[in-house]
Amino acid sequence: MKQKKPWGGRFAKQTAASVESFTESVSFDWRLYQYDIEGSIAHATMLARCKLITEKEKDAIIKGLQEILAEINSEKFKFRESLEDVHMNIESALIERIGEAGKKLHTARSRNDQVALDLRLWTRDQAHKMIRLLTLLQRELVKKGKMYFGLIMPGFTHLQHAQPVLLSHYLLAYVEMLERDKARLQDCCVRLNRSPLGACALAGTTLTTDPVMTAKLLSFDGVCENSMDAVSDRDFCVEYAFCLSMVAMHLSRLCEEWIIWCNDEVKFIEISDAYCTGSSIMPQKKNPDVLELIRGKCGRVFGHLTSLLTLLKGLPLSYNRDMQEDKIAIFDAADTVQTSLSILAELVANTHFHEEQMMAACEKGFIDATALAEYLVKKGVPFRMAHEIVGKIVRECIRVQCKLMDLQLGGFKAFSSVIEEDVYKVLGVENCIKNYRSYGSTAPGFVKKRIAYWEKKLSKG
Ligand code: ARG
Repeated sequence: MKQKKPWGGRFAKQTAASVESFTESVSFDWRLYQYDIEGSIAHATMLARCKLITEKEKDAIIKGLQEILAEINSEKFKFRESLEDVHMNIESALIERIGEAGKKLHTARSRNDQVALDLRLWTRDQAHKMIRLLTLLQRELVKKGKMYFGLIMPGFTHLQHAQPVLLSHYLLAYVEMLERDKARLQDCCVRLNRSPLGACALAGTTLTTDPVMTAKLLSFDGVCENSMDAVSDRDFCVEYAFCLSMVAMHLSRLCEEWIIWCNDEVKFIEISDAYCTGSSIMPQKKNPDVLELIRGKCGRVFGHLTSLLTLLKGLPLSYNRDMQEDKIAIFDAADTVQTSLSILAELVANTHFHEEQMMAACEKGFIDATALAEYLVKKGVPFRMAHEIVGKIVRECIRVQCKLMDLQLGGFKAFSSVIEEDVYKVLGVENCIKNYRSYGSTAPGFVKKRIAYWEKKLSKG
């Protein structure tokens, strides 16, 4: 049987089946049900206080909505495509259940402010979930940083050996990035946290309502100041998609690195068998597919950000149906980043770092050359000149195939007379690490303090 449309009064013909399936959104926006019901309960409470419905009607509405919520939660509720979206499915079910009182729920409300509300509530909740997941990943990184404290690896620039760093320092770099991601999500919630309810279709209402009350009931910091903006604004979706893109980009950088780190040439890490997959033809293979997929899924997340911007760029005020597409983008972006974050946290916990390989790599690439240049600076040589001298020393070492520390003092003196026996106290990766002093550097003392700082901060949740 065809469902009667809540907006059917003006229509002489039934909606074409093709139009129903083309315009429906319930197949994806059903996941807003919890927020839709929460919003409707607040709205009904406000309507009763403003005497637009009676206390009895309000109670019937709330009871009915709570029953519907329970039904959806236990997967007994049947969403119907013919009722278009989550909002009309729930409202129709309410009317079926409680009759006349149900027909009053949509007083002083439009689906335009309703959907804007639901989406804000969903995004606010999601952002907080994402922050918790970021914390879990940070904790795993800090745990590894503590476990491997003291382990030295070559730091890279241009993917070439550059200067030695502590593995812990490298891991904590990601902890810093993720902390910024969390702050960005918090900040997104500041602008998002205003209630659009009361804007109705676009212009507000001639009825006496109290949007401030609904905003309070739903824990918003205030009400949107302009009804046209309230129903047209999806900035918070774009901002959220950007926050997610930034997270995805950070994860992808780590993944790219670790993919390189587990290949046969580098072998800095060994990922547990449980977090790798094999090849259908090459029996010996163990591939880092999880890392590759996190890197790959980044494309989807960036794509959703672009979709949202493109979706909005040509939209005249106020509501346009195009905006229904926002949910597809934002839901998938959130799902993708959420699963990537949680699986990466597991993978980090299940990764072993090869000390010998990292140490062996440190022997290559003259990564103590900068320390030697700074040694010359301490002896009074202007830095630009020190750079030139050490460059020449390195060239000589390449020629005779030795490390900097293998040169005899006489060999050094041929390049600079200020070099003394104490030069051997700055050469070699261990000495380099020991001698770092600047704030935020990889100096073991600083790194140790930072590990303690993060442990304490992240234990709070
Ligand atoms: N399903 C719609 C959406 O997601 C709800 C709002 C519909 N409003 C309207 N005037 N057709 O945007």
